[in-house]
Amino acid sequence: MARKRVAILISGRGSNMTALIEAAADPDYPAEIALVLSNRADAGGLVRAAEAGIATAVIDHKAFASRAEFDAAMDARLRAENIDIVCLAGFMRLLTDGFVEGWRDRMINIHPSLLPLFPGLDTHERAIEAGMRLTGCTVHFVRAKMDSGPIIGQAAVPIALDDTPDTLSKRVLTAEHQIYPLALALVASGLATVENERLVMRGDLPADIASMLVSPSFGD
Ligand code: GAR
Repeated sequence: MARKRVAILISGRGSNMTALIEAAADPDYPAEIALVLSNRADAGGLVRAAEAGIATAVIDHKAFASRAEFDAAMDARLRAENIDIVCLAGFMRLLTDGFVEGWRDRMINIHPSLLPLFPGLDTHERAIEAGMRLTGCTVHFVRAKMDSGPIIGQAAVPIALDDTPDTLSKRVLTAEHQIYPLALALVASGLATVENERLVMRGDLPADIASMLVSPSFGD
């Protein structure tokens, strides 16, 4: 089966992007990273992508009068590159309903909490503030409402009593880097699909992958 062409959308350092690029370096991985697109020219991830030999593009949201025009420019670029799947990886712009609908079930996102808890920003601060003993990260298909949509995989990560948002974010990020490549592989291979707004898995997942997708091992 032909590898799916993936675009990764970033706004910053791109550590999740790097995890996806590294996974896709394996010729057996069902997706290739065809494009890294940033809304910020100074996103650190652009340098890392270029170093890995991946095509990069910048579409500066500030150059557009409206969200709809910015999204239309991104959409045109993605379609011109024959992109099959879009991965949001720290892409910090709200997307219009039209753009999201145009990529329905072909756009996934990673978020640093156990959704539907703590959508939005400052997730680690809020989880600590709430006294949670567990938090984690989620990969999900993207829907119009921010940080919502059918969940593909989640990893639970313990919160230590002396954690700060910074120490916790590092631990969660390690888990993010494990589940995002797995989740993308499932979507790209056609194993993971959506029915009635819930994840459906076609075929039997090897047990090690199935357990990784809900509780990968992680370390500091
Ligand atoms: C990651 O922790 C990702 O989960 C989060 O931004 C960070 C990007 O880091 N995304 C969101 O908060 C989306 N709502 P990275 O650029 O190193 O991958």
